[in-house]
Amino acid sequence: MAAEASFARDLPKAELHLHIEGTLEPELMFELAGRNRVRLPYRSVDELRRAYVFSDLQSFLDLYYAGCQVLLKEQDFYELTSAYLSRAAGQGIRHAEIFFDPQTHTDRGVPFETVIGGIHRALEDGRDRLQITSGLIPCFLRHLSAESAMQTLEEALPYRDWILGVGLDSSEVGHPPSKFRTVFDRAREAGLHTVAHAGEEGPPAYIWEALDLLNAQRIDHGVRCAEDPRLVGRLVEDQTPLTVCPLSNVKLRVFPTLRQHNLKQLLDRGLLVTVNSDDPAYFGGYVGDNFQATATALGLDRDQLLTLARNSFTASFLPDEQKRNYLAAVDRFNAQPSLKTIS
Ligand code: ADE
Ligand code: ZN
Repeated sequence: MAAEASFARDLPKAELHLHIEGTLEPELMFELAGRNRVRLPYRSVDELRRAYVFSDLQSFLDLYYAGCQVLLKEQDFYELTSAYLSRAAGQGIRHAEIFFDPQTHTDRGVPFETVIGGIHRALEDGRDRLQITSGLIPCFLRHLSAESAMQTLEEALPYRDWILGVGLDSSEVGHPPSKFRTVFDRAREAGLHTVAHAGEEGPPAYIWEALDLLNAQRIDHGVRCAEDPRLVGRLVEDQTPLTVCPLSNVKLRVFPTLRQHNLKQLLDRGLLVTVNSDDPAYFGGYVGDNFQATATALGLDRDQLLTLARNSFTASFLPDEQKRNYLAAVDRFNAQPSLKTIS
């Protein structure tokens, strides 16, 4: 591997936009289907992988929700999360704030406790085994009702100590953030952080709503902010982080190619941009792969990669002291004598 490529991959970084269900690799999907006697409409791992061609967000979500049906037991969620952490550790991840979609499971009769119990146990083990710190962010499915979101929040609150905040995901267009104002108010009253997917396929107006009505502290994706200069000004002024997912955006046709992605323009404009993997098992790469591919396609230099790595910790919900420790780790990584030849 070229030195520049390994620099991008190995840089210490945090992942802030990762759906744990989107890390379900076809091999594990088949293994769990066998174990749990769930029928998959594919004959092999290869046939399944070949189905991963998407025309938009919904075409992906249909497949992603279908794949989730193999997840039934606490041990399934444990193995899913452990596998993600092992991969992440090989790509410079030191901290992960992980999304999960409770309603995708509770609507199938899998108890909330089973889902969060398995994921949390794997995160605890990951802390010991791999020194990766982490937190959990349950997301409300925006294609379901506000009442269902509120019920999900009530189910989550007994696990308050394991949860960093709440998020909003799934089919964006037609489901504006305003629909979830009351449930986000309640989450903030409970002392939870707030994030929301907005401006992936939806218009800049959805980003304004996420900021003004939900008080979202980070915008997940947010790339369509570029269509509204006043919104860009607001995001720069407040240094509201955008958790951008370049490979996802190409797979779901938000941008035709990686070379046409607006990440570099957003960075140059002074936005607090981070790079993330979204659903890596479906989109062809984990977070280090996203760093590498984006650096190559957009010609990012070493300073820009360092900014992205630093932004990932700055934008996290870690306490300030832990943020400082991780930022120092980025500086130490950059100061390694073996890296001096990279410009
Ligand atoms: N759920 C999983 N991945 C998602 C994405 N990229 N956008 C919205 N909801 C999602
Ligand atoms: Zn996402």
